[in-house]
Amino acid sequence: MNILGIETSCDETAAAVFSDSQGILSNIVLSQDEIHAPYGGIVPELASRHHILSVTYIVDESLRRAEKKIEEIDVFAVTQGPGLIGSLLVGLNFAKGLAYYFNKPLVPVDHLEAHTSSVLLENQNINYPALALLVSGGHTSLFLQEKPLESRIIAKTRDDAAGEALDKIAKFLELGYPGGPIIDRLAQKGNPGSFHFSLPQMTDGSLDYSFSGFKTAALQYIKQHGITRDHPQLNDFLASFEQAIIRSLLSILAKSVKTYRPGSLILCGGVARNKKLRKAFKDYANTVSIKSYIPSPEFCTDNAAMVAAAAWEQVKNKGLSRISLGLNAYPRKPL
Ligand code: KG4
Ligand code: ZN
Repeated sequence: MNILGIETSCDETAAAVFSDSQGILSNIVLSQDEIHAPYGGIVPELASRHHILSVTYIVDESLRRAEKKIEEIDVFAVTQGPGLIGSLLVGLNFAKGLAYYFNKPLVPVDHLEAHTSSVLLENQNINYPALALLVSGGHTSLFLQEKPLESRIIAKTRDDAAGEALDKIAKFLELGYPGGPIIDRLAQKGNPGSFHFSLPQMTDGSLDYSFSGFKTAALQYIKQHGITRDHPQLNDFLASFEQAIIRSLLSILAKSVKTYRPGSLILCGGVARNKKLRKAFKDYANTVSIKSYIPSPEFCTDNAAMVAAAAWEQVKNKGLSRISLGLNAYPRKPL
């Protein structure tokens, strides 16, 4: 079975071809970073308009690299939400059109389930239940997974997502967009012990994350020390800020591990590309002797291979149904 995945939930136009016997055959991602960089963040209308311009070419390219004709695709899969509504509608309607024309099933995929399924592209024998930490620009959530698509949320952010906090501080310091990879690179050269950030304490005993306190503390340090992009302590400051986020992510993970005693630990989402987070996550998993899984970097940030992987799980669990013409996009997760 060949699955064509399409992803346009945010500012990446992506398509991938997955075969149940050979795994991922192509994974094409066109980033709009350069389009949004002058604004320091995503401009939703521009994102939708660029998806419309690129989606045909990206799908063609994914088929070409996979050496498949579109007639050889058995199932179309597409991100249904959450995400930017205009962006989602472009991919969803394009996929609907393909499924309709070729009379093939269309599998709608939840973006968060796509991220947590990204780990399945490279690992088949994960020991469940697993704790899956999804850290991206839009989400910071910890899921307890009984099996791949059966998740219960254990902790989530009450304010900013971790990637959003990194992007905002980078924007404030005029370092460029997106800020996460820039901070990753600069922080390598800094001393993470230079600036102190206190971990937030939830008074109601919940496991939730909060990153807005770090952001406020960071803005205070910036003001007090006159930190700019040319400041001699810029890298130290960024390394300390990054370290605070990593400590917070891992401290809640550690509490959850004690409560839920999972068989595996999974890290996914765009921020899972961060080198220090990858290392800290693996080191922590080693100290508690639990096997850990982190997808290769290209499967962490938004991509369509993970959409196809989640669709394949759905097909295995529930079988195939015909295209539903009533399928619509959702900007936030339905309650
Ligand atoms: O998963 P993703 O592509 O999109 C969302 O679903 O949000 O994640 C994008 C986020 C952005 O905040 C970006 O700054 C962050 O992932 N990111 C990183 C790195 N690469 C991307 N953050 C830290 N270090 C990186 N190397
Ligand atoms: Zn994402």
